Amino acid sequence: MKLLLLNGPNLRLLGTREPGIYGRFTLADAEALARETAARLGAELDCFQSDVEGELVSKVGAARGVYDGIVINPAAYTHTSVALRDALAAAELPAVELHISNTHRREAFRHVSYTAPVCVAQLMGFGLTGYALAVEGLVALIQGGAR
Ligand code: DQA
Repeated sequence: MKLLLLNGPNLRLLGTREPGIYGRFTLADAEALARETAARLGAELDCFQSDVEGELVSKVGAARGVYDGIVINPAAYTHTSVALRDALAAAELPAVELHISNTHRREAFRHVSYTAPVCVAQLMGFGLTGYALAVEGLVALIQGGAR
Protein backbone atom coordinates (compact mmCIF):
# COMPACT_ATOMS: atom_id res chain seq x y z
CA MET A 1 0.00 0.00 0.00
CA LYS A 2 1.35 3.44 -1.00
CA LEU A 3 0.21 6.61 0.73
CA LEU A 4 0.85 10.30 0.11
CA LEU A 5 1.07 12.91 2.88
CA LEU A 6 0.55 16.49 1.70
CA ASN A 7 1.08 19.56 3.86
CA GLY A 8 0.03 23.01 2.71
CA PRO A 9 1.21 26.59 3.18
CA ASN A 10 3.17 27.71 6.24
CA LEU A 11 3.38 24.19 7.68
CA ARG A 12 7.13 24.15 6.99
CA LEU A 13 7.26 26.77 9.76
CA LEU A 14 5.96 24.31 12.37
CA GLY A 15 8.08 24.48 15.50
CA THR A 16 8.21 28.27 15.55
CA ARG A 17 4.83 29.18 14.01
CA GLU A 18 2.24 30.19 16.63
CA PRO A 19 3.34 27.46 19.08
CA GLY A 20 0.36 28.18 21.35
CA ILE A 21 -1.88 26.89 18.54
CA TYR A 22 0.31 24.40 16.66
CA GLY A 23 2.75 23.21 19.33
CA ARG A 24 6.54 23.00 19.15
CA PHE A 25 6.93 20.00 16.85
CA THR A 26 8.42 20.49 13.39
CA LEU A 27 7.25 19.37 9.94
CA ALA A 28 10.08 16.82 9.99
CA ASP A 29 8.69 15.42 13.28
CA ALA A 30 5.19 15.13 11.76
CA GLU A 31 6.49 13.47 8.59
CA ALA A 32 8.67 11.05 10.59
CA LEU A 33 5.73 10.04 12.79
CA ALA A 34 3.48 9.54 9.75
CA ARG A 35 6.18 7.48 8.01
CA GLU A 36 6.80 5.32 11.11
CA THR A 37 3.07 4.73 11.50
CA ALA A 38 2.72 3.73 7.86
CA ALA A 39 5.73 1.39 8.08
CA ARG A 40 4.32 -0.27 11.24
CA LEU A 41 1.14 -0.96 9.27
CA GLY A 42 3.03 -2.29 6.25
CA ALA A 43 2.49 0.81 4.08
CA GLU A 44 4.88 3.16 2.32
CA LEU A 45 4.46 6.92 2.68
CA ASP A 46 5.76 9.78 0.53
CA CYS A 47 5.70 13.31 1.97
CA PHE A 48 5.40 16.66 0.21
CA GLN A 49 4.91 20.20 1.50
CA SER A 50 4.32 23.33 -0.51
CA ASP A 51 3.25 26.90 0.04
CA VAL A 52 2.09 27.00 -3.58
CA GLU A 53 -1.52 26.02 -4.31
CA GLY A 54 -0.77 24.85 -7.86
CA GLU A 55 2.01 22.52 -6.69
CA LEU A 56 -0.39 20.81 -4.29
CA VAL A 57 -3.02 20.58 -7.03
CA SER A 58 -0.43 19.00 -9.37
CA LYS A 59 0.64 16.46 -6.72
CA VAL A 60 -2.97 15.40 -6.15
CA GLY A 61 -3.50 15.30 -9.91
CA ALA A 62 -0.55 12.93 -10.36
CA ALA A 63 -1.56 10.64 -7.46
CA ARG A 64 -4.09 8.49 -9.26
CA GLY A 65 -2.67 5.11 -10.18
CA VAL A 66 0.41 5.73 -8.00
CA TYR A 67 -1.02 5.98 -4.48
CA ASP A 68 -3.79 4.13 -2.65
CA GLY A 69 -4.77 7.10 -0.51
CA ILE A 70 -3.90 10.62 0.63
CA VAL A 71 -3.58 12.35 3.99
CA ILE A 72 -3.78 16.09 3.41
CA ASN A 73 -3.43 19.07 5.68
CA PRO A 74 -4.39 21.77 3.16
CA ALA A 75 -3.74 24.48 5.82
CA ALA A 76 -5.20 27.83 4.70
CA TYR A 77 -6.20 26.39 1.30
CA THR A 78 -8.80 24.33 3.20
CA HIS A 79 -10.88 27.47 3.46
CA THR A 80 -10.29 28.91 -0.01
CA SER A 81 -9.31 26.39 -2.67
CA VAL A 82 -11.84 25.21 -5.23
CA ALA A 83 -8.85 23.96 -7.29
CA LEU A 84 -7.64 21.63 -4.54
CA ARG A 85 -11.16 20.37 -3.93
CA ASP A 86 -11.60 19.65 -7.65
CA ALA A 87 -8.22 17.87 -7.76
CA LEU A 88 -9.20 15.64 -4.82
CA ALA A 89 -12.55 14.86 -6.42
CA ALA A 90 -10.85 13.98 -9.74
CA ALA A 91 -8.24 11.77 -8.05
CA GLU A 92 -10.92 9.31 -6.94
CA LEU A 93 -8.66 8.19 -4.08
CA PRO A 94 -9.64 8.01 -0.42
CA ALA A 95 -8.32 11.15 1.28
CA VAL A 96 -8.27 12.14 4.93
CA GLU A 97 -8.32 15.86 5.72
CA LEU A 98 -6.12 16.58 8.72
CA HIS A 99 -5.71 19.67 10.90
CA ILE A 100 -3.39 20.13 13.83
CA SER A 101 -5.74 22.54 15.58
CA ASN A 102 -9.49 22.26 16.08
CA THR A 103 -10.52 24.78 13.46
CA HIS A 104 -14.06 24.95 14.92
CA ARG A 105 -12.68 26.56 18.07
CA ARG A 106 -11.06 29.30 16.00
CA GLU A 107 -12.15 32.15 13.71
CA ALA A 108 -15.41 31.70 11.76
CA PHE A 109 -13.59 31.70 8.39
CA ARG A 110 -11.85 28.47 9.49
CA HIS A 111 -15.18 26.72 10.08
CA VAL A 112 -15.72 26.20 6.37
CA SER A 113 -13.77 23.52 4.50
CA TYR A 114 -13.88 23.38 0.70
CA THR A 115 -12.00 20.08 0.77
CA ALA A 116 -13.81 18.07 3.49
CA PRO A 117 -16.80 17.14 1.27
CA VAL A 118 -14.48 15.32 -1.16
CA CYS A 119 -12.56 13.50 1.61
CA VAL A 120 -13.64 10.23 3.26
CA ALA A 121 -12.80 11.53 6.74
CA GLN A 122 -11.66 14.59 8.63
CA LEU A 123 -9.48 14.65 11.76
CA MET A 124 -8.58 17.72 13.78
CA GLY A 125 -7.37 18.98 17.14
CA PHE A 126 -4.94 16.18 18.02
CA GLY A 127 -1.73 18.12 17.34
CA LEU A 128 1.24 15.98 16.32
CA THR A 129 -0.63 12.76 17.23
CA GLY A 130 -3.10 13.53 14.43
CA TYR A 131 -0.42 12.61 11.87
CA ALA A 132 -0.28 9.06 13.29
CA LEU A 133 -4.06 8.81 13.72
CA ALA A 134 -4.77 10.01 10.19
CA VAL A 135 -2.40 7.45 8.64
CA GLU A 136 -3.81 4.68 10.82
CA GLY A 137 -7.37 5.67 9.94
CA LEU A 138 -6.61 5.91 6.22
CA VAL A 139 -5.01 2.44 6.16
CA ALA A 140 -8.08 0.99 7.91
CA LEU A 141 -10.42 2.76 5.48
CA ILE A 142 -8.48 1.49 2.45
CA GLN A 143 -8.43 -2.05 3.86
CA GLY A 144 -12.18 -1.73 4.34
CA GLY A 145 -12.59 -0.80 0.68
CA ALA A 146 -13.07 2.98 1.04
CA ARG A 147 -13.04 5.04 -2.11
C1 DQA B 1 -4.46 24.18 9.94
C2 DQA B 1 -5.67 25.06 10.22
C3 DQA B 1 -5.85 26.13 9.14
O1 DQA B 1 -6.98 26.94 9.43
C4 DQA B 1 -4.62 27.01 9.07
O2 DQA B 1 -4.74 27.93 8.00
C5 DQA B 1 -3.35 26.25 8.98
C6 DQA B 1 -3.19 25.01 9.74
C7 DQA B 1 -4.19 23.18 11.08
O3 DQA B 1 -3.46 22.22 10.82
O4 DQA B 1 -4.67 23.36 12.21
O5 DQA B 1 -2.39 26.69 8.36
O6 DQA B 1 -4.70 23.42 8.77
